[in-house]
Amino acid sequence: ALRVRSPRRTRSPPGPFAWPLLGNVMQLGELPHLTFCRMAQKYGDVFQIRLGRRAVLVLNGEAAIRRALLGQCAQFAGRPGFSSYRAISGGKSMAFGGYSELWRLHRKIAHSTLRAFSSADADARAILQRHIADEARELVEAFASLSARGRYFDPSLECTVAVANVICALCFGQRYGHEDQEFKSLLGRTLKFGQTVGAGSLVDLLPWLQTFPNPARSLYRSFQELNREAFDFVKAKISHHRRTYDPAVTRDMSDAFIRDIGRLGDGYVEGTVTDLFGAGQDTNSAALTWVLFLLVRYPHLQARLHEELEGAVGRERLPAWEDRRRLPFLEAFLYETLRFSSFVPFTIPHCTTADVTVDGFHVPKDTVVFVNQWSVNHDRAKWKDPHAFDPGRFLDDKGELDRDLAKGVLIFSLGKRRCIGDEFSKVQLFLFTAILLHQCTFLADPAEGLSMGCVNGLTLRPRPFSLSVTLRHRRRQPSA
Ligand code: HEM
Repeated sequence: ALRVRSPRRTRSPPGPFAWPLLGNVMQLGELPHLTFCRMAQKYGDVFQIRLGRRAVLVLNGEAAIRRALLGQCAQFAGRPGFSSYRAISGGKSMAFGGYSELWRLHRKIAHSTLRAFSSADADARAILQRHIADEARELVEAFASLSARGRYFDPSLECTVAVANVICALCFGQRYGHEDQEFKSLLGRTLKFGQTVGAGSLVDLLPWLQTFPNPARSLYRSFQELNREAFDFVKAKISHHRRTYDPAVTRDMSDAFIRDIGRLGDGYVEGTVTDLFGAGQDTNSAALTWVLFLLVRYPHLQARLHEELEGAVGRERLPAWEDRRRLPFLEAFLYETLRFSSFVPFTIPHCTTADVTVDGFHVPKDTVVFVNQWSVNHDRAKWKDPHAFDPGRFLDDKGELDRDLAKGVLIFSLGKRRCIGDEFSKVQLFLFTAILLHQCTFLADPAEGLSMGCVNGLTLRPRPFSLSVTLRHRRRQPSA
């Protein structure tokens, strides 16, 4: 007898034709977020592709993303159970762990500890500001010496050292010099995390890639290798902390985790610290690299920022977080940097935790979900000329920052998996940029074209570029 299925159950999301074995892998292209924007025009904001055997739901545009991640938050809070994710943070990653009671507790402790050390109260903010100001000053010195005799240099590794040191100071109470080659090479390698995690997922989706030599397989191996290396680095630090631990004194975040997270089981302290160390580095150094790129790309905007700082802060002291209301153009410049670059174009892949209906389409439990943040930040219906870099779009008629518009930039995701480092990153990006601009003028290398293209990984980065700095007139040695 014919089985009549209910129409709702059979209505899967539309999407492109999928080839046997590969599915749509070959159609993703170099910049999948752009490919998905094109596909969304054809199939709608909610569509489905196949990667290998697995169906992947792709969400585009603010409305559809909000309906899923906020409207059905628990149903969209999973992570795919890829076996490659077990290599991350010794298998005890919160960021890559599936949705469960244990995970909720894990996230709660990680989040509240990070907040306690960065933004919970005035004391925490003051300590964080001091760390950032110290690193910004070191960065100015490093830039100045790299610019000796008008030389041009690529600033991205120095940016990584600076932001990694802030998280090291919070986690371990320790920082490393810009001349420390061992630290630099660890950071240089962990920066590859973003470029290889995709290959990890590809090998999970197409397991037969493991069986013969190919670029995805070698990337997958280096992905496993650098996860091990980052985890070993953290493990050594934590073991030293355990040996010198005094329950009466919480020296840093590692001590706080030893105190609060040990009850989750073995390896959770190390896993959580590796998560924070990894999540904060690649993202914040990409952000700072974009800022520098855009400053040299648009010298007239840099001049306007210098002018604003001169008026609001002057030369007698360094800028502080509390100055931000008096620096609306700087805030607008930073929001426009996040929007324009959308340097985290996708969230980490999600996974449905139950059968769900989105926009009338049936999506089964355990479907992988890609969330295209880039599509929100470049939506013509939301932004005028989305492809133009124009900080002025965030200022109202009085020249103040339009906070509602600024909230519309989607880069930290939404819902139960929203980034827990958002506040921390905003303080860090603001202060680094303010202090660097206060102290330096950044000059483009006239031999380079500064093309607007970008390089893909988990984060998008500008194509490698060089700059040089000249120090701005100092009336006094800056002090924190
Ligand atoms: C997750 C963005 C900095 C810790 C995420 C996600 C995004 C993101 C898009 C994935 C959310 C999802 O899957 O829906 C950013 C950006 C940053 C930044 C743009 C800098 C500008 C940081 C920092 C830390 C951090 C500094 C910690 C020190 C985390 C953690 C997760 C996460 C732990 C996993 C959350 C979860 O799975 O529940 N971040 N992040 N992030 N981020 Fe960030």
